[in-house]
Amino acid sequence: MQIGIIGAGTMGSGIAQVAAQNSHSVILVDSSEHAIARAKSSLEITLTKLVEKGKISNEKSNDIRANISYSRELDSLHNCGLIIEAIVEKLEIKHDLFLKIESLVSDNCIIASNTSSLSIASLGSVLANSNRIIGIHFFNPAPLMPLVEVIPAVQTTDQVLNKSVEIIKSWGKVVVVCKDTPGFIVNRVARPFYGEALRIYEEGKADFATIDWAMTEFGGFKMGPFTLMDYIGNDVNYSVTESVFEAFYYDPRFKPSFTQRRHKEAGFYGRKSGRGYYDYSENAQEVSPKLDVELGKEIFERILAMLINEAIDAVFMQVASPEDIDLAMTKGVNYPKGLLKWADEIGLENILLQLENLFHEYGEDRYRPNPLLRKMVREKRSFF
Ligand SMILES: NC(=O)c1ccc[n+]([C@@H]2O[C@H](COP(=O)([O-])OP(=O)(O)OC[C@H]3O[C@@H](n4cnc5c(N)ncnc54)[C@H](O)[C@@H]3O)[C@@H](O)[C@H]2O)c1
Repeated sequence: MQIGIIGAGTMGSGIAQVAAQNSHSVILVDSSEHAIARAKSSLEITLTKLVEKGKISNEKSNDIRANISYSRELDSLHNCGLIIEAIVEKLEIKHDLFLKIESLVSDNCIIASNTSSLSIASLGSVLANSNRIIGIHFFNPAPLMPLVEVIPAVQTTDQVLNKSVEIIKSWGKVVVVCKDTPGFIVNRVARPFYGEALRIYEEGKADFATIDWAMTEFGGFKMGPFTLMDYIGNDVNYSVTESVFEAFYYDPRFKPSFTQRRHKEAGFYGRKSGRGYYDYSENAQEVSPKLDVELGKEIFERILAMLINEAIDAVFMQVASPEDIDLAMTKGVNYPKGLLKWADEIGLENILLQLENLFHEYGEDRYRPNPLLRKMVREKRSFF
């Protein structure tokens, strides 16, 4: 099957590489000549590295290169069986593109979007045959991250869903299927990792380094929240938080933080701007955490309880199965353990108690324990 990828930026060029590695003929389209040139040269750098490290043979590298053709014209996509759009995150621009694509391709071509924040139903609404729309959400960098979220819209047929899952699995990816709801699985369930850490900082309970230390030391997370936000970029991370907050009709659980907003406004994006929560300049002093075990455990337990509550809400709202939610968090954001498995191990009654204490202390809706958590504790059930 010929695969069309539109948008040769960060995501599109990575997805093209994945499809080409799996022996598809790929057409990578971008309206910008500059983007195409950049995608070509970054593929060359990647292939050279892979051959040097012995990860692929010279022959395989030549095959991958030969499998991708580049174009500035959408017409070149007319034979594709699957098109994945990875252009700028603007609904009107994506709509305009979908209208153009549909007039070019065959009736059974699947039209997919790699969007992180737009609803798949809204994206498909402009298509004459909207039951071929689907979300296929890769993580950055697409060739390395194993997880792909596949999101059927209300319009999508089972046939389109099954075919899409089959193709993406054949590329060696871990596929989770989730409902067309804001943030899908990962960008929804992960919000408290950032949000609760920021809240703890804002309350003056601990500084960035101490909160990061608590999460790596007691939680086994590869990076603490502030180090991770500095990696992702505070501009990018803040706008995901803001869009999830808006899309959930301003549910206080997802309220963005002034601290992050001010960092974004100041241009303190993180590593890429040289300064975020930490200073990345050459002579910067490393900041030491306060190694207070009691405080560290308290921070870790509070953030974890909030994450687990969010994962349980995704089960409660039928966003995805418990198995897929745990897979998404371990394979999409490298959590050391699935949150629901973690909840079982700690004991759901302990998580409920932790959340009830927070809710009682603050009286804020953000800390309300999920009804499914209460029900499961009452019925003495566990997730697995
Ligand atoms: N960057 C991430 O971490 C990430 C992760 C998952 C999903 N996404 C989603 O993937 C999509 C692309 O993100 P990105 O970070 O790769 O963006 P990017 O800015 O790196 O690349 C977008 C590319 O699309 C091209 N483009 C814009 N409009 C076009 C049009 N009408 N026709 C053809 N080409 C066009 C641009 O020239 C650019 O090269 C977005 O929907 C984003 O939400 C991004």
